[in-house]
Amino acid sequence: MLKQTVTLIKGDGIGPEIAEAVKRIFEAANAPVAWEEADAGLYCIEKYGNGLPKETLESITRNGIALKSPTTTPIGGGHKSINVTIRKTLELFANVRPCKTFPGIKTRYDNVDLIIVRENVEDTYGGIEHQQTPEVAQCLRLITSIGSRAAARYAFEMAGIEGRKKITCVHKANIQKMTDGLFLRSFNDVAANYPTIDNNDILIDNLCMQLVIKPEQFDVLVLPNLFGDIVSDLCAGLIGGLGVAPGGNIGSDAAVFEAVHGSAPDIAGKNLANPTALLLSSIQMLRYMGATAYADLIENALTMTLEAGVKTRDIGGSSSTEEYTNAICENIGKLPSVLSDAVQTNSRVRIAREQLRVEQSPWNIRGVDIFVKTTDISLLPRTLGKLTLSMVSNRGTKIYPGEIPDIVIVDCQRCRYTSNETLTNDDILEFLNAFPTDLPWMHIEKLHEENGVALYSKAQGE
Ligand code: NAI
Repeated sequence: MLKQTVTLIKGDGIGPEIAEAVKRIFEAANAPVAWEEADAGLYCIEKYGNGLPKETLESITRNGIALKSPTTTPIGGGHKSINVTIRKTLELFANVRPCKTFPGIKTRYDNVDLIIVRENVEDTYGGIEHQQTPEVAQCLRLITSIGSRAAARYAFEMAGIEGRKKITCVHKANIQKMTDGLFLRSFNDVAANYPTIDNNDILIDNLCMQLVIKPEQFDVLVLPNLFGDIVSDLCAGLIGGLGVAPGGNIGSDAAVFEAVHGSAPDIAGKNLANPTALLLSSIQMLRYMGATAYADLIENALTMTLEAGVKTRDIGGSSSTEEYTNAICENIGKLPSVLSDAVQTNSRVRIAREQLRVEQSPWNIRGVDIFVKTTDISLLPRTLGKLTLSMVSNRGTKIYPGEIPDIVIVDCQRCRYTSNETLTNDDILEFLNAFPTDLPWMHIEKLHEENGVALYSKAQGE
């Protein structure tokens, strides 16, 4: 098999140690990969002025495939996440994370075998955040039908190829009726095209409980980005921890394979890191490339090593990263008692996202929600132009009309002004121009209706 060039990002923290381990194992297996090393990580900031140099993105785009070690993201400030930037820039719309009990790793569960398909570019990961007032910060959670359908379509195509029987959509559409509602509706629309694959849906909170009690009831899970992130770590815990949980970010034109875990600064440079998760991600990558025989060869060597009791500390052993890597290299070509059965997903599914667009019937403007900085709602005009104040909510709880409930009132009011007639943009501009200048407003949202159905949420208590 001809060698394929793959971008290798060694990253931060334990990244370089585990990347080096994978490189050594690939060399021992003579795997058909030529590495093209590229920089990304906190360490790049000094050298390039940012954590993700454009040369690295160009390398991934050119090669179409990358293996990426974790990179560090500062908490509560600093630069944007490098992972999120890669996923969004290259439109890697599905994050595919197989989660299977591995022979030789002792866990509380014997029979976990599920695949997480996490929508990978939207949701709160848009990172669209604003401080509205000193008391209130806001994050826009954008869910689109295209993004939701792409993740769902990937899951169904993958299930078809890999003989998976059931796909479960995970959501919180009872509370987030618009956003999770759209995610679930998009999933159901896609599911209708795959009548031979069972599907159902579950609330995220119930899923978490069910996963801990009876994980074997799940086959493929499709989740919005943030839920997918959290549930991935939960599922990693079911199979032995973050040290053994792999993944791949899949797009139409590129794929970046990386472990679920982060840069583990607490053990960096100590020869303690478990390279298994990155190694399993690289096996997933080999299957994606069609190098199945090499994937099996390396996976069998890994299983053989674990069966022989050679393990790193995080999964109950005492080996260093180096000793563990040496053992895997020595076991290349040997067969364990449980042979590789293509645990890792190998689905190379191309999703033409343009075909996922939805038709829109006409929308009417019925009013606006205007977000105003005040704690005294008696100052709000009751009528302005064609619009009348119909509701005020504070942190989503209705405080007008009617009694103000006994809650803490923060200085950001959602003031709903509506009209019985259909409004134009000029009506809205006239309203904004007339709005009292001593009542500062932060932003507005138009209230739309489609065929008489309101396309906006109600307040608690409304
Ligand atoms: P983490 O996943 O790095 O570590 C959590 C715990 O798991 C730590 O105790 C760590 O020692 C352990 N652990 C993780 N991977 C391990 C391995 N291979 N072998 C043995 N033990 C392992 O999560 P944390 O500490 O929350 O994040 C550290 C940094 O990593 C942050 O800057 C975060 O933003 C970043 N991160 C990067 C990701 C990526 O590049 N894909 C993904 C998740 C986090």
